[in-house]
Amino acid sequence: MIKSLRGMNDILSEDYERFTYFIDTATDVAQKYGFHFIETPLLEETALFKRSVGESSDIVGKEMYQFIDKGENDVCLRPEGTAGVVRAFIQKKLDKAGGIHRFFYHGPMFRYERPQKGRLREFHQFGVESFGVESVYEDATMIMMVSDILKRCGIGYRLQLNSLGDQNCMPEYRDNLVSFIESVEDEICEDCKRRKSTNPIRVLDCKNEKCQSLYANAPKLINALCDGCQSDFDKLKKVLDDNNIAYEIDRNLVRGLDYYSKTAFEFVSDNIGSQSAIAGGGRYDRLVEFLDGRPTPAVGFAMGIERLLELIEMPQHSREGYYLGAMDDEAVDLIVSLTHQKRQSDKAVCDFKAKNLKNHLKGADKINARYCCVIGTNEMRDGTIWVKDLQNKTEETIKRVDF
Ligand code: HAM
Repeated sequence: MIKSLRGMNDILSEDYERFTYFIDTATDVAQKYGFHFIETPLLEETALFKRSVGESSDIVGKEMYQFIDKGENDVCLRPEGTAGVVRAFIQKKLDKAGGIHRFFYHGPMFRYERPQKGRLREFHQFGVESFGVESVYEDATMIMMVSDILKRCGIGYRLQLNSLGDQNCMPEYRDNLVSFIESVEDEICEDCKRRKSTNPIRVLDCKNEKCQSLYANAPKLINALCDGCQSDFDKLKKVLDDNNIAYEIDRNLVRGLDYYSKTAFEFVSDNIGSQSAIAGGGRYDRLVEFLDGRPTPAVGFAMGIERLLELIEMPQHSREGYYLGAMDDEAVDLIVSLTHQKRQSDKAVCDFKAKNLKNHLKGADKINARYCCVIGTNEMRDGTIWVKDLQNKTEETIKRVDF
């Protein structure tokens, strides 16, 4: 038997309902915030991710589904959504047009990670990207948006916040950090030795316990912020306080992608096991320029839909639509025609086999139909249809012309 690839799931039945409920809710929130839908291809040039997500990241270093296509192009399945949206933004010359452009998207992402609960190789994100707003109010708006989406889905969270500085304060901090790393280099893991030369701040979120205890004495990024970054960070905290959004400062939150500067944030859940990040994002003011666009401030986030599924509180489903069935073989054609007719305005499902009333009522109940409609010999003869309202528990026989 051929099975799906490891870490790649089918989504059906109840999960699918939760999935679409989440996307509908998140879409509604994003539209209320004035964002517009964008869809980018699943396959992009590998260089796009190398230059944006960064060669030093685990995503590019170890996790890309990368291959040479039949035209000898080096391509890969997108591991995340931001890079493609930035590419589209530049390709459509929106950077040159100026102004504010706000997008949301959802779809599959691919990372060749070790699968475990909450960690898939094909997973789905809902994300937003905002271009052209330098103000930290936009960063706060992103956080409010995630918070609103989670609240509407009945999902509790903890918000972790950090500032990663900018090109004014980062270089000096980076030098100090590298000196510190060199002082403990003999004791750190191989990954951190590599990070020292590729992207030193990534050592701060190393999962190795020995490294973590050594880095307790490392210079703190948050103490190294320049006045501009510090005042933006203070302002962000004030806006969140004013709007009753609780947060924790996590000085080691550096995010796994290289394009961030200033604000970085993660939403975590304590109810889904070790893969606890349910959303992550931040500011990436230099990425448009890195990808050859006109310098444009930008900020965004993405949420991992699979990690949210089991947390979503679905509204109670009320019964909906029609179930139609025949009690006599002769009535099946009629049932098919009436179902087709009903479907022009309502949800309607029919059974192609003649069955007794009890079985039809069971069938209607199984699909949560509001009305069970049945035609037997008497109804055939009289031009009627028997209808039971399964919600109000009433029943009547009506003329087929009135159905
Ligand atoms: P990210 O933190 O890599 O950020 O991913 C965002 C979310 O996707 C995570 O918080 C998690 O919920 C989910 N996720 C990531 N990897 C997996 C996986 N293997 N299996 C299941 N869920 C996963 C980004 O992707 C950035 N593009 C976010 C962003 C947008 N920053 C600015 N704009």
